[in-house]
Amino acid sequence: MMDIGTAKTIAPGVDMPTLGLGVYKVENGQEAYRAVRFALDAGYRLIDTASFYFNEESVGEAIRDSLIPREKLFITTKLWPLEFGDVQKAAAGSLKRLGCGYIDLYLLHWPGLDTKLRLRAWEEVQELKDKGKIRACGVSNFFIRHLEELKEHGGAVPANDQVELHPWLQQRGLRDYCAKNGISVTAWGPIFHGHLAEEPLVGEIGGKYGKTPAQATLRWHLQKGINVIPKSVHKSRIEENADLFDFSLSEEDMKRIDGLDKGMSFGRDPDVFDGHID
Ligand SMILES: NC(=O)c1ccc[n+]([C@@H]2O[C@H](COP(=O)([O-])OP(=O)(O)OC[C@H]3O[C@@H](n4cnc5c(N)ncnc54)[C@H](OP(=O)(O)O)[C@@H]3O)[C@@H](O)[C@H]2O)c1
Repeated sequence: MMDIGTAKTIAPGVDMPTLGLGVYKVENGQEAYRAVRFALDAGYRLIDTASFYFNEESVGEAIRDSLIPREKLFITTKLWPLEFGDVQKAAAGSLKRLGCGYIDLYLLHWPGLDTKLRLRAWEEVQELKDKGKIRACGVSNFFIRHLEELKEHGGAVPANDQVELHPWLQQRGLRDYCAKNGISVTAWGPIFHGHLAEEPLVGEIGGKYGKTPAQATLRWHLQKGINVIPKSVHKSRIEENADLFDFSLSEEDMKRIDGLDKGMSFGRDPDVFDGHID
């Protein structure tokens, strides 16, 4: 199967596919293995996992069994805030579980609440890059103030900020900031965490193009220059979510979806979440 979609340069010499498979809440074992194999067969080349998803082993196994050359794939994984104290150990654990020699994009998963520890972890992630263990360093759930702190601290500009983003939470201020500062943006929860049926407009707009609500929503992201990593464990949906490259939403339909923003988040608040799960 051919690779699908497009790629964007996020750091010198690093091109990131604009579409990937997300595997949060996908169980290690058959579920994660099958989802990744379905995705790679459908042409996805980016898989988004994390140490916190506890499925890196099955993701790695599926990647190896696909026989797709490693350099044609893009693996994102993430460092949990409770791992900030020993970044080298955490990264070595992810590399071992994934069974690969390097990570394409390594993200600080959440900022956490300890600024000093976060900035130190960011420095250590740069060291991993210098050692060739990761190709690009990024962050996740960082607000502008967290990005400003990194900037003031010096060091590398993050290649990517992965944040909750969908038509109900459009993150305009953050997106403008990232565009001005050369930081690419990836949307998590891009199809409303699956709450698509609660937003009839994306169904109506999709229908005009012979497309589904998920496809209309994902296309809106791509036309805004936002990377997407929709999650599914079902072959038909994994294929559906990748069938985005044979149509374009009109300017008017883009504007109608722009009008849906209501600042509504399904996620945790980065300003209070320290990485401990109740
Ligand atoms: N950085 C972070 O803090 C963070 C947080 C959350 C998520 N993420 C990443 O972002 C990825 C995506 O986010 P997400 O999983 O929260 O939400 P999402 O991708 O917006 O939505 C996933 C939900 O939609 C359903 N779905 C998938 N395709 C569909 C379709 N075509 N039609 C109808 N329903 C569909 C899935 O169910 P089925 O599986 O049953 O198809 C699942 O319930 C995650 O997997 C993870 O990689 C990152």
